[in-house]
Amino acid sequence: MSEPGPALGTAGGPAGVTVWFTGLSGAGKSTVAGTLFHLLSERGERAFLLDGDDLREGLNADLGFTAEDRAENVRRVGEVALLFSRAAHVTLVTVISPYATGRDAVRKRHDTSAVPFVEVHVATPLEVCEARDPKGLYRRARAGEIARFTGVSDPYEPPDAPELVLVTDGRSAEACAQEVLGVLAGRSLLGLCARSG
Ligand code: ADX
Repeated sequence: MSEPGPALGTAGGPAGVTVWFTGLSGAGKSTVAGTLFHLLSERGERAFLLDGDDLREGLNADLGFTAEDRAENVRRVGEVALLFSRAAHVTLVTVISPYATGRDAVRKRHDTSAVPFVEVHVATPLEVCEARDPKGLYRRARAGEIARFTGVSDPYEPPDAPELVLVTDGRSAEACAQEVLGVLAGRSLLGLCARSG
C-alpha cells in the first residue's frame, strides 16, 4: 500500500500545520506559543500566531463568554487558522477553547482539508493558574466581578487525546516550546518553507 502524500495547501504546495494550544487562563498558552513562534522564525519557518485575546479585540469583539459565544469564537478562530495553515504556515493558536465539541469540530475541519492539526493541552492546574493570576482575573472572578470565568464558575473540559499534554509548572517557556517543536519535528511537520519553496 502506498503512503498517503503530503496534504495540499492553497497553492498546490504542501499545507502547513495548526498547533492548537488549549488550557485555562494563565496556563501559559500565549507565553509558550510566543516562544515557539521565535524558535520557528529562527529556523526559517513561516509561522503565524493567532491569540484569543487579540482576536476578541476585533474579529470576535461581538462575542462574550456564554457557551454559545465561546463555541462561535472557537469556530471562527479555527477557520482563520485553517486558512493560514492551508497557505503553508505553522499556525499557533492560543484560545482557552473549553469545550471538547468545539475543539473536535475544528479538528474535523482540518481533517477534511487534510491539514495537520496538533492539539497541545497546556495542562497547568487551576491552583497554579490562580496563583499566577497574571491579569488579576481569578481574583476578580472569585470576588464575583467576572461571571462565567473558566475554572471558577464555568467548565473546562480537558482533551481526551491531545497530541501533547504540556506541563509548564516549574519549567521555562523555552523548555516547553522546545518540547512542542520536538513533537512537530517528530511528525515531519517542519521544513515547510524548504518543502514549498
Ligand atoms: S474561549 O473560552 O472563548 O476560548 P478566549 O481564549 O477567546 O476564550 O478568551 C479568554 C481570555 O478572555 C482570557 O485569557 C481572559 O483574559 C479573558 N476573559 C474575560 N472574561 C473571561 C471569562 N469569563 N472566562 C474566561 N476568560 C475570560
